[in-house]
Amino acid sequence: MINNHIPKWDDSFSVGNDRIDHQHQYFLSLIEYLDESVDSNTSPAFVKHMLDEILLYARFHFCSEENMMEQYEYAGYNRHKKLHEQLLHEVTRKIIHFSMNKAELADIIEFLLSWFLTHTINEDKMFHESLK
Ligand SMILES: [Fe+2]
Ligand SMILES: [Fe+2]
Repeated sequence: MINNHIPKWDDSFSVGNDRIDHQHQYFLSLIEYLDESVDSNTSPAFVKHMLDEILLYARFHFCSEENMMEQYEYAGYNRHKKLHEQLLHEVTRKIIHFSMNKAELADIIEFLLSWFLTHTINEDKMFHESLK
């Protein structure tokens, strides 16, 4: 248990689309699972594998969102896609640092959480609002 404060899913996180909400819920559950599963006895290799799982899921999720934006010809598509690329780039960099013992897992979890709380609530919601 790392003990970052992981919020429980709340309706205020909803973007108003079931498919995307389910993906966001799952993303949050992966962060929670990572936070709960790791303690000082956990091997760094295993932690790295869990981080890889989160990274793969984030890629999948971004692909889903971008396909939906393409489908609805969202005006903010390019900007949003760029934000996704920046998040993936940053988390990849942090995972590499973790592998080299240069980053604390607690900081990575903090980063994933702030991504969830800011990107999801602000940027993802903006797209779904535009569909109304
Ligand atoms: Fe999202
Ligand atoms: Fe997004």
